[in-house]
Amino acid sequence: MMYATVNREICIGCGLCADACPEVFQMDADNLAEVVAQPTEANYGSAQEAADGCPVDAIEVGTAS
Ligand code: F3S
Repeated sequence: MMYATVNREICIGCGLCADACPEVFQMDADNLAEVVAQPTEANYGSAQEAADGCPVDAIEVGTAS
């Protein structure tokens, strides 16, 4: 099963993740990213791009059994 997490303690609200993969990441009212749905086969690649692109490495995307 695929998962995504955002460490909101270090998110600086750059918004890249929500642009790269809006199915999984959205900006909330405080302009911090939140995970709105876990990744699926269809968007796992873009979720990983979001994780790779986050300037403060706040995102973890992976698979767990
Ligand atoms: Fe925050 Fe990184 Fe997304 S800084 S808004 S988690 S790309």
